[in-house]
Amino acid sequence: MNFFGVLFVSNFLLASSKQVVISNILPRLDRDGKYVDAHDGCLVKFNNTYFIYGTVYGECHQSTTVCDGVCGYLNNTFALYTSSDLVNWTLINNNIVPEVTQDHNYINYWMPNVGYNVHTKQYVMIYWSSRYGFKNSVIALAVSSTPYGPFVNVPPLEMQGGKRISDTTSLFVDDDNTAYVRYNTRDAPLRHIIEKLSPDWMTTTGQFSIIFEKQDFPWYDGGGTFKRKDIYYTMLSFDCCFCQWGSDARTFATTDILGNWTYIGQLNYCADGKIPPDHVSDMYINPCSINNTFGTNFTVPAQQFNVATLPVSSEETLYMYYGERFRSSKDGMKGHDFQAWIPIEFTTNDTLLPLKFYSNFTVNIQEIFHT
Ligand SMILES: *[C@@H]1O[C@H](CO)[C@@H](O)[C@H](O)[C@H]1NC(C)=O
Ligand SMILES: *[C@@H]1O[C@H](CO)[C@@H](O)[C@H](O)[C@H]1NC(C)=O
Ligand SMILES: *[C@@H]1O[C@H](CO)[C@@H](O)[C@H](O)[C@H]1NC(C)=O
Ligand SMILES: *[C@@H]1O[C@H](CO)[C@@H](O)[C@H](O)[C@H]1NC(C)=O
Ligand SMILES: *[C@@H]1O[C@H](CO)[C@@H](O)[C@H](O)[C@H]1NC(C)=O
Ligand SMILES: *[C@@H]1O[C@H](CO)[C@@H](O)[C@H](O)[C@H]1NC(C)=O
Ligand SMILES: *[C@@H]1O[C@H](CO)[C@@H](O)[C@H](O)[C@H]1NC(C)=O
Ligand SMILES: *[C@@H]1O[C@H](CO)[C@@H](O)[C@H](O)[C@H]1NC(C)=O
Repeated sequence: MNFFGVLFVSNFLLASSKQVVISNILPRLDRDGKYVDAHDGCLVKFNNTYFIYGTVYGECHQSTTVCDGVCGYLNNTFALYTSSDLVNWTLINNNIVPEVTQDHNYINYWMPNVGYNVHTKQYVMIYWSSRYGFKNSVIALAVSSTPYGPFVNVPPLEMQGGKRISDTTSLFVDDDNTAYVRYNTRDAPLRHIIEKLSPDWMTTTGQFSIIFEKQDFPWYDGGGTFKRKDIYYTMLSFDCCFCQWGSDARTFATTDILGNWTYIGQLNYCADGKIPPDHVSDMYINPCSINNTFGTNFTVPAQQFNVATLPVSSEETLYMYYGERFRSSKDGMKGHDFQAWIPIEFTTNDTLLPLKFYSNFTVNIQEIFHT
């Protein structure tokens, strides 16, 4: 990490450019030297600060190569960490939606996604809760007047594009402050929907489009939605349920978010370069090594949960794949599992390139300090 320039100085602000190295193989620690335990949520930038909202998995051991229904399922809370440079993280709060502790010993909580609504000046969180997920078409919603929380539950969203929400939900905020929720459905045919919210984000407009539908294994989980040069992209991946081999990245695009989506390609191949099969017989199968859960993993051996869209400087926006590498920690603790942060790369003609697993990569970020 070395400073290489001061861009401008005024009475109030000082901006400097610095190169940071983001590692995918060294544990991500906070400034107290503790593991950043904030998984499967989002990484967003509000003004000049980066925020990680994520699920605290804690110090349990996942006993099997896929989810065991206990570790990472029960007693979850949501945590917030902040940083000005993407490498030096500070724990703000490891229980940012305090209400979850009332029933988290039997209700599962995952995937906190936070956006800022410029009209209502509210920070809005949607998250997945087993109170609703697999049961009905409702998605949990919580609000705060600051990005630091605490977030307080408000009446949930009642989505119109499906009768039963499946296992993933995420929030996408467009440049014009319109918010959309992407979710998958448990009612057949299993599909991925993106649905537009009202201007205050407190209800749905009922307008939605279907990104993709497919009834057989592997089912598709969420990846992330982003927008670049007026094209919307959604990445989806095989249902992996905390699987240790990771998952793929089927990518869809459209210029009309509520219109038809087009499949544009697979971005995460198996680590041996093979294309994962479209069909497997069960969700506990490693698509890259059909008979061996300990065999070949995906190139990026992670289950994708999001794409972080980060304006790292006035010149550059980083689009970053955001996934979880289950059962990857050295000490076996689930809360210590690595995340995969992988830059999404385009050719000069704006074609998406397949993902590579970078053990580290550098980002030139602009930091702004108040003086
Ligand atoms: C950014 O800072 C301004 C001025 O303090 C504030 O009004 C605004 O709400 C902030 N925006 C976000 C997204 O936090
Ligand atoms: C969850 O917390 C409760 C209360 O502290 C405890 O009794 C229970 O064993 C915990 N469950 C798990 C799976 O950690
Ligand atoms: C890390 O961030 C904290 C809080 O912003 C700051 O006090 C500290 O100096 C930073 N450390 C480094 C090494 O940048
Ligand atoms: C979407 O695709 C369907 C079926 O191919 C077609 O009938 C429809 O006109 C398309 N809609 C738009 C907005 O392009
Ligand atoms: C997996 O094992 C079955 C049963 O032994 C065998 O028939 C099949 O060919 C194997 N598949 C692969 C991809 O190795
Ligand atoms: C796949 O990933 C898991 C979890 O990180 C790891 O234990 C295993 O060694 C990897 N397998 C291969 C063949 O790289
Ligand atoms: C864009 O670039 C890729 C790789 O460089 C090439 O394969 C592709 O044909 C190009 N597409 C167009 C529309 O030029
Ligand atoms: C980043 O990765 C490169 C290539 O693998 C390696 O040579 C370099 O030492 C790494 N840098 C850091 C700071 O980890």
